Amino acid sequence: MSFIVGLRNLLFKALYKLSRPLIFLMDPEEAHYMFKRVGVFLGSNFLTRFLTSLLFNYGHKSLKTSVDGIEYRNPLGLSAGFDKDGELTKIYPSIGFGLAELGSFTGEVCPGNPGKRLFRMVKSKSILVWYGLNNQGAEVISKRLKGVNFGKLKVGINAAKSNLTPEFDLQDSIDDYTKTMSLFKDIGDYYTINISCPNTQDGEPFVVKENLDALLKAVNAHRVEGRPIYVKLAADISIDEINTIVDACIEHQMDGVVLTNLAKPAHNKEYIESELPYHKGAMSGLPLQRISTNVIRHVYRRSRGKLTIIGVGGVFTAKDAYEKITSGASLLHMISTLIFDGPQNINEINRGLVKLLKADGFSSIEEAVGSRNPLPKLKSSQSQHTSKNAA
Ligand SMILES: Cc1cc2nc3c(=O)[nH]c(=O)nc-3n(C[C@H](O)[C@H](O)[C@H](O)COP(=O)(O)O)c2cc1C
Repeated sequence: MSFIVGLRNLLFKALYKLSRPLIFLMDPEEAHYMFKRVGVFLGSNFLTRFLTSLLFNYGHKSLKTSVDGIEYRNPLGLSAGFDKDGELTKIYPSIGFGLAELGSFTGEVCPGNPGKRLFRMVKSKSILVWYGLNNQGAEVISKRLKGVNFGKLKVGINAAKSNLTPEFDLQDSIDDYTKTMSLFKDIGDYYTINISCPNTQDGEPFVVKENLDALLKAVNAHRVEGRPIYVKLAADISIDEINTIVDACIEHQMDGVVLTNLAKPAHNKEYIESELPYHKGAMSGLPLQRISTNVIRHVYRRSRGKLTIIGVGGVFTAKDAYEKITSGASLLHMISTLIFDGPQNINEINRGLVKLLKADGFSSIEEAVGSRNPLPKLKSSQSQHTSKNAA
């Protein structure tokens, strides 16, 4: 069976490679909308879902994983930013995802930044993003998604603050996040609080401890029983800033963190400089791969397993995925590989993960989490703080 799936993947890989030059002739934002329309169509009825599933789906018992009380059929998820209006949930299980994070949604309707907003950096395997949180707003989207049965797909609701003015107002921003949380209180399986959009007019004010404390307090007041809350961090903040956020997340009993958002070119030189197409925006994909894994390694050790980690940034192969898992991530998100390698790569990565788990003698993803990033021994005075998984 695995042999047939392998052949099927090779065929689709070759087809995607052949059609990619044509796709890349399109404007990137146009191509994004075209793929969304295809996804909406494929998800619209049983027959197209079934056929898509035959061509792209894959499952294996060792991929099933339980995180914060939620059962996932596999650890691979769509990252926030592809499905900004939550329109494609019907098709994700058929192409092999275990989870999908929708949004970012903002409390108010948000048009995003003006002008050209997406750029391909092909040799660097990266997308330069200058979207600025364009979405239809939490009211419209929550109405559309109310009562939708997501089946075996687990759904994350990514909340951000609207990018409408250059002035930061703490209370308005907090209200924006909590408005989305309230409107989605009956929809989805977990929340992500995105404090790290690199493309907003008023910067990233929740890196400041007092602002973050106020936000996390308000977020906690909107907690829904059984629904974990994760906080999404930037790729290029300092270690001190990371530590401040991680410690605040533990203090305010957040369930975990998403590591990481896009990387700004000014703070990251892991791309081909002559390819940089625009002076604004931030990069996905390969330039982010190493930095996000390093952040995962650091946060896993700092939080001593008390925070669930969702790893994201430059996952293109099973090896990349496994590196993030063995560094401490329990789940993974991805977008860029869909653009550069095609949708068959989701199950190719899942298939590769099964082999890598087996090679290391693990029977589940949970056993592999953090296995190549051992926690440093605690001094006896610190040892009463144990991991949430250690009980
Ligand atoms: C086109 C695009 C739009 C994005 N928009 C969002 C967003 O709205 N909210 C968010 O939290 N992250 C957003 N991101 C960041 C991704 O969720 C992810 O963190 C990043 O792309 C790294 O993953 P990758 O290397 O697999 O693409 C966006 C990324 C891309 C490529």
